[in-house]
Order: sequence, then C-alpha cells, then structure tokens
Amino acid sequence: MRVFASCVYLVLGGALLSITEAKSATGDRVLVLVPKAESSKEYSQVIASLDKRGFDVTLAQATNTSVSLHNYDRRSYDHAILLSPTTKKFGAALTVNDFIRFVDDGGNLIVAVSSELSDFHRKLSAQFGVEFEKRGMLAIDHINNLKEGNASDHTVIASNRFTDIPAVLSPQFVKADADPVYFKGIGHKYDAKSPFLIPLLAGKRTTYSRLESGKSNTAQDDSSLSGSSLGLVSVFQARGNARVAISGSTDIFSNALIKKGGSGNHRFVDDILQWTLQEKAVLREVGHRHYLTSTGEQPEHYRINNEILYEIDLSEYHNNAWHPYSANDVQFEAIMLDPYIRATLNRTQSADTKSTAAYRGNIKLPDRYGTFTFRVNYKRTGLSNIDIKDTVGIWPLRHDEYPRFLSAAYPYYAGSFAMVVGFLALCMAWLWNAEPSKKKNAAKAKSE
Ligand SMILES: *[C@@H]1O[C@H](CO)[C@@H](O)[C@H](O)[C@H]1NC(C)=O
Ligand SMILES: *[C@@H]1O[C@H](CO)[C@@H](O)[C@H](O)[C@H]1NC(C)=O
Ligand SMILES: *[C@@H]1O[C@H](CO)[C@@H](O)[C@H](O)[C@H]1NC(C)=O
Repeated sequence: MRVFASCVYLVLGGALLSITEAKSATGDRVLVLVPKAESSKEYSQVIASLDKRGFDVTLAQATNTSVSLHNYDRRSYDHAILLSPTTKKFGAALTVNDFIRFVDDGGNLIVAVSSELSDFHRKLSAQFGVEFEKRGMLAIDHINNLKEGNASDHTVIASNRFTDIPAVLSPQFVKADADPVYFKGIGHKYDAKSPFLIPLLAGKRTTYSRLESGKSNTAQDDSSLSGSSLGLVSVFQARGNARVAISGSTDIFSNALIKKGGSGNHRFVDDILQWTLQEKAVLREVGHRHYLTSTGEQPEHYRINNEILYEIDLSEYHNNAWHPYSANDVQFEAIMLDPYIRATLNRTQSADTKSTAAYRGNIKLPDRYGTFTFRVNYKRTGLSNIDIKDTVGIWPLRHDEYPRFLSAAYPYYAGSFAMVVGFLALCMAWLWNAEPSKKKNAAKAKSE
C-alpha cells in the first residue's frame, strides 16, 4: 500500500514538474508535419527554439500513415504545425474535418502554405475565413521588397503593415516605421467581418497579387486583391480558445528568412509561435463569488433589490508564469433575456497579488423577480475569452418583508384619513343639527 502511495506521489510530482517546465499554458506536445524528412533542415531554427522552450516536438513526414491527431477520443498532440503545402493527403487519411475537430477540442494549429498549395489547405483555411488566391499566384511588390546589393527580388516582399494587436505582436511592430517582415508566398482574402479572425500582416500599398512569371496566362491572372486587402498572415481564435495561425508563406518559418538582417522576421515568427501555442495572452478565471453586502453570505436565492457584491479573479499567462491581469473594462451583467444590469467592475486588492487580479462591484439587484444569469463575458482581440455564468433566483419579498408604510403612498394615506374625518364630520353635522330644525318647522306650522 505504501509502495503504491509513493508511486502515486512520484507520478503526480512528475506531472507537476512537467507542467511547470512547459512554456505553453495548455500543453507541450507539438506535431510538425514536413513534406520530406530532409526538409526539416530548412526549419531547424524554429524547431530548435521549440525544443529549447521545453516543447515535446514530434517531427513527421506529412504523408506518414502512422500520423494521427486523435487517439480514440483524445487529442494526441496539443499543437500542430503544417509546413507541407503541396500535400493532398495527410497521415492515415486525415480529413479537413479531423483538423477542425482537433481545433474544436482545443488543439492549436499553424498552417503555412506556398503558391503551390493543395486543395486540402484551401479547404482547411476556408474554415477559418481565409480564402487563398488561385494556385500559382504570388504576392509581388516592385518597390518594397528584398534588396541585396543592387539586385532586388520582387517576389520577396517587405511589408510592415501590421494590425496593432498588442496581445499578439511585440511592441516593436506597433510603431509606424517598424522593421518590415520579408514574405515570399501567396496572399489571401480575409473575412474582415469575422470577429474571430485578425489579419496580422497585410500587403503595403504597392503590393499586389500576380501569376508567377513563366506560367501560362490562361487563367484569369488579374486579382482584385492588393494593398491592405491582400492578407499575408492571419490569426484566428476559436470560441473554445484554441488558436490558429494561417500564413501564405512557409518561407517565413525557414532559416533563410529568419536570419535575414534588417528584418523583423525573427521576432515576428516568434510572436506567431508564442501566441498560437498559448505561451502568451492566455487569460483565465481563477475564481468568482457573489454574496449579500449586509451579511457577507451567499443565500440560496436573493430577494429583489438586494445589495450584493460580485467578485472575480483574473490571471494572464506570459513569460512562463501567471500574472495579475490588469484592465479597466471588466463588466458584470445580470441577465434575464435582456441585461437588466451592466456594470464595470473595479480592480481591488486580491488575496494572491502575485498572480491574480481581483475585480469587484457593488450591485443593487433589479426590482424584478425571476431566474437571472450573472455573467462576466470578457472577449478582447488576441486574448482568451472568458465567459462565466451563474444562474441565480431572485425572489419577490415575503408578505411580511414589505415596509409598513411607503413614502410614495402618503397622498393616499392622507386621502383615506381625510375621507374618514369627513365622514365623521358629516355624521356629526347630521345628528346634532336635526333637532332645532324640527322645532322651528313645528313653530312655523302653529303660527299659520
Ligand atoms: C512514420 O512514423 C513512424 C512513427 O513515428 C516511424 O516509425 C516511421 O519510420 C515513419 N515512416 C516514414 C516512412 O517516415
Ligand atoms: C551591382 O553593381 C556593381 C557596380 O555598382 C556591378 O559591378 C555589379 O555587377 C552589379 N551587380 C548586379 C547583380 O547587377
Ligand atoms: C467603482 O468605484 C467607483 C468609485 O469608487 C464607484 O462609484 C462605483 O460604483 C464602483 N463600481 C461598482 C460596480 O461597484
């Protein structure tokens, strides 16, 4: 028995150790799919950096039939990186739906393609609101491109049109004259209306899309996409907080471009990897509670107009640890079909100041009974979504809990008392005035 217990401790200790060692907040198993075993050399820098950060990297040929994303009902990996754009069939006949299921189950996905992308990649990206240009088209820029000596390569474009999302990008990319990122590959149309998709890098004003030179021009080679409508790298965050990055270039992950001097490539690729593999901008709710202000207790159900306190603790993961999450826009809602109350919570001192931030609000419940939902629905671009819901009953007052007199009803009280007084006065007048008038009448009759 004791041996068994110590084994359990060992296993638990091991699990805890591996959790603290991993850089990602959600898991450290990464599957990297490359076209050929040799091609892993091209991406050795990215793979080495993942190794260094404590990821458990599995490198596999995309067509290897022993590759699968799920083992029965469980994900076999926490993250998948597809660097094999021409592959039509992945692993053991993996379908687009298998990858969608992987993301639905919380797996993170990086899809990198080139101008020779297969229909599989096209269909997969379309699921996330990204529509790639026709096969064989390249993003071209005759002005902003890679210049070496007096030669310039118009197919390696240099763009610094970033979407300003501090949760995803390092501060160096936010300024106007940020170092450009060299990009060689195909552009895409992004769904600008999707609240889940962020076009992280788009073309500059002079960038457009064209069929690769030397290819026959039978296909319509004019594209409406140019400038900022030509997406180059987009990122997507699913409702379940899984993250997806879609790049029209496998080359940005290659050693050749990462090493290019005067470019932001190294930092940019690092930002994409860290964000997508949940190493930063990960939010979580540590705890939340609500109770009566007067007693400090949480009753089974509240009464209308009760004063309550609502508190929620939030943490953000970055740099390998959980930190307090600071914001001034955390809102509380009390909802019954429509929100009855929406209040911005105030930051207060939390019990654990090192890793969590507490938000608190004094709430006066509505003058309305029914089943309410107390909700904190916090969704900000680039950050994990937080959606906390509690169902609470708000009951009417009991018959003996109403106030005896309502100030608003004083005119009515006055009215009824005035009525009583008036009635009594009338009765008195009636009773005491009847006698003299009778005598007078009799006297009158006699005199006649
Ligand atoms: C496929 O993957 C398995 C397990 O990872 C490995 O043993 C095998 O050598 C791979 N096959 C090929 C053709 O790469
Ligand atoms: C670049 O310019 C130098 C002279 O400035 C010339 O000698 C060299 O041939 C040129 N290289 C190319 C690739 O045009
Ligand atoms: C937040 O603090 C301000 C100032 O102290 C206060 O007026 C406001 O009611 C507080 N908000 C909530 C929801 O308690």
